[in-house]
Amino acid sequence: MSDFEPFYDVNRTYEDNYEYGPFGAFAQALKADVDDEPIAGKQQGETFLGQPVNLAFGIPAGPLLNSKYTTAAFRMGFDLATYKTVRSRAWGCNPFPNVLAVHPKSADGSLTPGSAELDEGVLADTNYELPMSISNSFGVPSKDPEYWQPDMRAAIAAAGPGQVLVPSFQGSRVEGMSEAEYIADHATTARLVKETGAKLMVMNTSCPNEGHNRLLCHDPLLVGRITEAVKNEIGDTPLMIKLAYIPSDDDLELMVRSTAARGTVQGFSTINTISARLVDVHGNQALPGAGRDRSGVCGNAIRGTGLAMVRRLAAIRERLGLAFAINGVGGVVSPADYAAYKAAGADSVMSATGAMWDAGLARKIKETR
Ligand SMILES: Cc1cc2nc3c(=O)[nH]c(=O)nc-3n(C[C@H](O)[C@H](O)[C@H](O)COP(=O)(O)O)c2cc1C
Repeated sequence: MSDFEPFYDVNRTYEDNYEYGPFGAFAQALKADVDDEPIAGKQQGETFLGQPVNLAFGIPAGPLLNSKYTTAAFRMGFDLATYKTVRSRAWGCNPFPNVLAVHPKSADGSLTPGSAELDEGVLADTNYELPMSISNSFGVPSKDPEYWQPDMRAAIAAAGPGQVLVPSFQGSRVEGMSEAEYIADHATTARLVKETGAKLMVMNTSCPNEGHNRLLCHDPLLVGRITEAVKNEIGDTPLMIKLAYIPSDDDLELMVRSTAARGTVQGFSTINTISARLVDVHGNQALPGAGRDRSGVCGNAIRGTGLAMVRRLAAIRERLGLAFAINGVGGVVSPADYAAYKAAGADSVMSATGAMWDAGLARKIKETR
């Protein structure tokens, strides 16, 4: 079984992956005897939001759909396993396909915010090749809490020594909702997560939860009000928020001042995907259906942007004399990328696309340290 076979099978629907996954090396890890030595459980003695961990490296919200995936990730030595973003209510998935390979034009395969290519169109198809860049278009599906709460509890229980299950959640904006109701939905979802015994949690503000292509994290003051309501609900439980790329330093500083500086947030996880117009080889819309002309790109293409965002956040942290944690995400596909994020100021690092196509990534990083 090759590590290259992704544990999330991009050729199957989300529902099939949920039901029958994980695949590849993760499926093998799940079959292993529970009493087996963890595949890569070297003790390194770090912390993540106050919790002791072997190595503060893992997988961010997305490819780990349920407790089978998070348990397999732990067994493969990813000491931080994020449970895919949940909601206060059941929520459907965008139609298949949800993942496509993406091929930027530049020699190093990078995509930079503001570049014309993002609006003119980036080639997206089913030719998956390393170093991997993909687009993901799921619409943040969720089971009903009655279903995900017991599963999240099982996911937490499956963490080994020095490993932490990281729940991710977000608020849901439904038609006719007032702003107060929208804020309250975040607090309710945080309470539902806390009820599972979660020791910490990540709130996603970086998906188009505000409507087509509109991100909550581009409204720092609203994020500030939401995190206050969430903190009132969860008390001392550490809260991290997931941010997309924020172009302006002023906006990024306002985000920090509205949240971490007021004690409502203990860390930032960044970045999420970069939005691009995706086209097929004929220049037509690559993903089928209305509202899917643009989609988020992740993997190799976005590493430079992720590193820049972490550096800017670390500079703001130092300038304001704050101590919030930074979780670096975006394009980590090798031990060198992990090291680059640490050098940029990240306290912890995660990889989604890189880990999907390299189940041995945590082991490789541990071996090089
Ligand atoms: C298949 C897939 C699903 C994702 N779903 C979520 C999600 O539900 N919530 C979230 O906050 N981020 C989600 N993401 C974004 C990742 O957490 C991460 O921010 C992004 O992929 C960049 O990291 P990468 O370059 O290592 O993939 C998803 C990513 C992938 C690949």
